[in-house]
Amino acid sequence: MFSRTARIYDAVYAWKDYEREAALLHELVQARKPGAATLLDVACGTGVHLAELSRWCRCEGLDLDPNLLAVGRERLPDVPLHEGDMRGFDLGRRFDAVTCLFSSIGYVLTVEALEAAVGAMARHLEPGGVLVVEPWLSPEAVVTPHVGAVFVDEPELKIARVNTIEVDGRTSSFDFHYLVGTPEGVEHFVEHHELGLFTHEEHLAAFRAAGLEVEHDEEGLMGRGLYIGVAAQPSAVNPT
Ligand SMILES: C[S@@+](CC[C@H](N)C(=O)[O-])C[C@H]1O[C@@H](n2cnc3c(N)ncnc32)[C@H](O)[C@@H]1O
Repeated sequence: MFSRTARIYDAVYAWKDYEREAALLHELVQARKPGAATLLDVACGTGVHLAELSRWCRCEGLDLDPNLLAVGRERLPDVPLHEGDMRGFDLGRRFDAVTCLFSSIGYVLTVEALEAAVGAMARHLEPGGVLVVEPWLSPEAVVTPHVGAVFVDEPELKIARVNTIEVDGRTSSFDFHYLVGTPEGVEHFVEHHELGLFTHEEHLAAFRAAGLEVEHDEEGLMGRGLYIGVAAQPSAVNPT
């Protein structure tokens, strides 16, 4: 998926305020599970949120893409980063918080896979633990036709990434056209990405099916909203 772009991922997303987002995440997790000290970031990519969150928590990450994980391991040699698929993974341990950010959930494409992914994430929560999922666009929110562009202008790295969006039923797809220049030369290539468009109700249903109490924050970290689920506490033991 990111095989051609893992090494330039951080430059392309340098505009994103990971530090501010991590501080907001830390606050919202602590408000729901005071003292939360462990966190798993699912679809962690190159680990930039983890680098920030590690100030407060013992962190781990999981991602499908070995190329992005390789960049993440260079950034965070002491943070365990697992290669795995969010639609079905078992790390054999639980965390106070699990996050899945920057619309990564859209990559699972189908409602069945959304439920499987939220279920797998929920099974990694401690009692009272917090699951935070930052969604991709809903079918009503996606606007076509659309053209997007990102430009990078570093001394030895120039990038223009230009794309349109196609929508076919519940799938949005992008052909990202990259023009990447370094002192060694200029390359052009196209990277294809597909993300599912899930409704508000489908997100809520996936959280409830996973046994979580769910709330929706419309603004979230960067205007895409957040689904926040809390796992049940064990029921109080009745002294007899
Ligand atoms: C837009 S990037 C976000 C990366 C990172 N969370 C960030 O905020 O920079 C989407 C990420 O989802 C990951 N991904 C896509 N499908 C996945 C799956 N089925 N299981 C785990 N990770 C997946 C990609 O490899 C990529 O790292």
